[in-house]
Amino acid sequence: MTSDPCCLADYEALAVDLLEPGPHGYFAGGAGDERTLRANVTAWGDHQLLPRVLVDVSGVSTATTVLGTDVAMPVLVAPVALQKMAHPDGEAGMARAAAAAGTIMTLSTIATSTPSEVAAGAPPAPRWFQVYVLADRGVTRALVDEAEACGYEALVLTVDAPRAGRRERDLRSGFGVPPGIDMPAVTAAVGETAGITPAGFFSLMDTTLTWDDFEAFVAESPLPVLIKGIHHPDDARRAVERGAAGVVVSNHGGRQLDNVPATASLLGPVVDAVDGGAEILVDGGIRRGTDVCAALALGARAVLVGRPALWGLTVGGEAGALRVLQLLQAEIELAMTLLGCATVADLTRDRLAATGH
Ligand code: FNR
Ligand code: LAC
Repeated sequence: MTSDPCCLADYEALAVDLLEPGPHGYFAGGAGDERTLRANVTAWGDHQLLPRVLVDVSGVSTATTVLGTDVAMPVLVAPVALQKMAHPDGEAGMARAAAAAGTIMTLSTIATSTPSEVAAGAPPAPRWFQVYVLADRGVTRALVDEAEACGYEALVLTVDAPRAGRRERDLRSGFGVPPGIDMPAVTAAVGETAGITPAGFFSLMDTTLTWDDFEAFVAESPLPVLIKGIHHPDDARRAVERGAAGVVVSNHGGRQLDNVPATASLLGPVVDAVDGGAEILVDGGIRRGTDVCAALALGARAVLVGRPALWGLTVGGEAGALRVLQLLQAEIELAMTLLGCATVADLTRDRLAATGH
């Protein structure tokens, strides 16, 4: 590549040569035949955008709010595990990048830094903590307490991963967490983590969770709780009835059950089912500003990006992750300008061509 990376795909291409096959396969891979992994990216292209003309776009703004928090753009950083395996800056570097980009970073339970280390390593900024309820509930409770004490503003409860999806890249590479990479939550639960496989850390999950447990978790939570990993409209509606502050339409980036629909297809029915009862976020395959515009036109409040931010971190640490977020914001601003949308509120369903879902 002669010029600087000019889009998110350029960062993905650069990251391949910077990672060993095992870690790259873990980050890039999906479940099974990776049909959903591929569909997540291509399906946003099915939602073609319809510009309106002669609109004053001299002052286009990508700014919005998510759960009442001001963000510079409707793009948040999704929780992604093992970020020090991508770059030594790790989750704290990602947090600094998100803060500099004016948006929210979500820290994974399966992080390589603790919530307090990330909070100490980044400027004050809105951050969320993603929760896996482990069978050892004490570990989960301690993490939530730590996150709340460090000023994390919401919890994101991930519910689509009671076990790991069948990730055959990891099976073929024999991937295990490299020596020297620690995951504090996993260490707290099982001690030594060197060489642990994804199936190994997923085996720590509490697979008994039901909606009653979700309602109890929300009731006991000191922070608003978003639910992440929703596919079905009825589950979205039930989550809101049981106290969810927000719903994240997600298939875990195609890493869990293969052959589920792309999130671009799941989003509309969930928005219709929730009918304004809570903010709906979506992730999976967001790679372009036009993807973000399509997601908002379908009714999402905002999107989250996982791999794109991770590839930025891989290539350039904190600065690389920030550059990815800045590139995406610039693409959104240009798309809004050419769509005739001065604010994100102008991104409504009538901006989608009839051929979209
Ligand atoms: C994830 N994701 C994820 N989700 C979660 O709730 N907790 C986690 O620890 C992780 N870890 C994780 C690791 C890696 C390597 C990937 C690629 C993804 C899922 C993530 O939050 C998000 O749902 C997807 O990554 C979104 O799809 P894109 O943006 O990667 O296409
Ligand atoms: C994964 C878990 C950590 O997708 O969410 O690997």
